Amino acid sequence: MAFPPAFIDEVIARNPIEDVVGQYVTLKRSGSNLFGLCPFHGEKTASFSVTPDKGMFYCFGCHKGGGVINFEMEIEGLSYGDAVRALAKRAGLEVPEDEQYQSRYRQQERLWALHREAARFFHSQLYAPVGASALEYARGRGMTQTTLTKFGIGYAPDSWSDLVDVLRKKGYTDQELRDSGLVTVSRKNGNLFDRFRDRLMFPIIDVRGNVIGFGGRIMNDRDKEAAKYLNSPETLIFNKRKNLFALNFAKKSKLGYLILVEGYMDAIALHQYGFDCAVASLGTALTEDGAALLSRYTDQVVLIYDGDAAGQNATQRAIPILERAGLQVKVLKMRDAKDPDEFLKKYGADRFKLLLEESASRVEYQLAAILRKYDLRDDDQKVKYLQESADLIGSLPSAVQRDVYGGRVAETAKISADAMHLEIERARKRRAYQEKKKQEKIDLAPARNLQPKSRAIRYTNIKSAMAEEMLLSLVLRESALLDHTGSLTPEMFSSQLLGRVYSQLKQRHEQGLEVSVGALADLTPEEMSHIAGILQRQTGPVNEQAMQDCIRTIQSEYQASKVTTEDDLLAVRDRLKERKGMKA
Ligand code: GTP
Ligand code: MN
Repeated sequence: MAFPPAFIDEVIARNPIEDVVGQYVTLKRSGSNLFGLCPFHGEKTASFSVTPDKGMFYCFGCHKGGGVINFEMEIEGLSYGDAVRALAKRAGLEVPEDEQYQSRYRQQERLWALHREAARFFHSQLYAPVGASALEYARGRGMTQTTLTKFGIGYAPDSWSDLVDVLRKKGYTDQELRDSGLVTVSRKNGNLFDRFRDRLMFPIIDVRGNVIGFGGRIMNDRDKEAAKYLNSPETLIFNKRKNLFALNFAKKSKLGYLILVEGYMDAIALHQYGFDCAVASLGTALTEDGAALLSRYTDQVVLIYDGDAAGQNATQRAIPILERAGLQVKVLKMRDAKDPDEFLKKYGADRFKLLLEESASRVEYQLAAILRKYDLRDDDQKVKYLQESADLIGSLPSAVQRDVYGGRVAETAKISADAMHLEIERARKRRAYQEKKKQEKIDLAPARNLQPKSRAIRYTNIKSAMAEEMLLSLVLRESALLDHTGSLTPEMFSSQLLGRVYSQLKQRHEQGLEVSVGALADLTPEEMSHIAGILQRQTGPVNEQAMQDCIRTIQSEYQASKVTTEDDLLAVRDRLKERKGMKA
């Protein structure tokens, strides 16, 4: 991934970080910083900062940070190379030839194009004679013409190599066909076969509009041998945990929230009935990545999973994942139908809208789930019900909420509101006590607070590391200081990461290149965030005196760490004695 450093500088210079971030986040100026809602963790108060002078962003909430390239990588889910390329394109810059990188990007572009061809082929087959029964099936399930077109629904014919043949004719190599995941390779002779045969095809499209994979449904549910749905395998362009079906449409919805369902058919039906904010996970449970993706487009999600036990379990698991991503969660429990698709067909959009309006906050939903576990006619079980409910209610931050839900539970269990109130307060105290213990543990270990969060970049010498951090922050604010670092070398740094950063900055300075966080190469996102965090913390005067103090500390700690032999020890003792003697 060797872009010339001067090219990276050009890319950074032509993409002011406030402009690039501004495409995703509404920023408000405050002093020399801009602030907005963090696009990476979902929040209500703005703790996401952009410092145009330093070309840097940093979130005080989730501690992500870095330069404009890191931002592009993070927000678009790109590799370093792809982010540089995207930014170069944005600024109208030509990317210098880079074999390895170019070939990977070309490979992706070829796969996107290949998938588009495949989608076209499948779609055309739906209207060909071979697709007659598939079309009938789709119509039978209520899909309108508009829906079939909008979602590009298709049919994979019942043949061994129709798709393979079409794609070969279009010039795709066998290697590309294998990389696409749309073919299977015969173990016997290595021949390529269509992976999807005799299935109704659902193209999976990413938020940028690329077809990245397919889901295929059998049309004969009596066939117990075949999996009902077959999905594309993971490929260079398809990651089922990081994508959601129909988000390419739902992200444009004006409804202000997103609906998350389990199945392709559910999402499609919702769109057809006017709920154009529906998305479906791709045959897996909701993941952290999926929740983060949702939180980029909304702060409120309505979960509608199937009414069966599996769906309810999945709901319970999804709630904390969504809330951790900063999303407000409501839950709609399906009744009178097994899933949204079936409900809409049976009762229509208006009744679904009523359901949606009634959809409970996740607290109501969870209280109902607790209630179902116990038989209130049994006293022991009733007590357990009350305690478990009190635990849940006690965790709510709002007194009004605690009061309302507490009252409801009391009514359900036929006890007095006062008794319930006491039980909730007890649960709250227990919780507060646990939190306090946890906080004390953190406070009692001050050195640990200075430690990076990640183990991989742990400091071994806090004193030296603090000086190293300070030094980096000084030279990043005033690069001319790098002319006066004297005999300091990267090896003297106790932190390998900080030493590496120092070495890069020094080298860049000597070559007359930009000395900025954004220009640092070969750092993991974690390392980058750590460096950005350091810069946000450091204040104080920027001058040579301050830097020399840092250098002295780093060098003396380094010398001390080098003391290994007895002679060294003796020498150090003599020196210490001398110094004391001088003072006396
Ligand atoms: P219909 O039965 O056509 O209404 O589909 P549905 O979308 O309601 O499917 P269902 O509720 O049975 O499953 C929900 C989702 O789980 C589907 O959309 C698929 O993504 C996935 N899924 C279901 N069955 C299979 C399977 O056999 N294999 C795989 N890989 N995924 C499946
Ligand atoms: Mn269904």
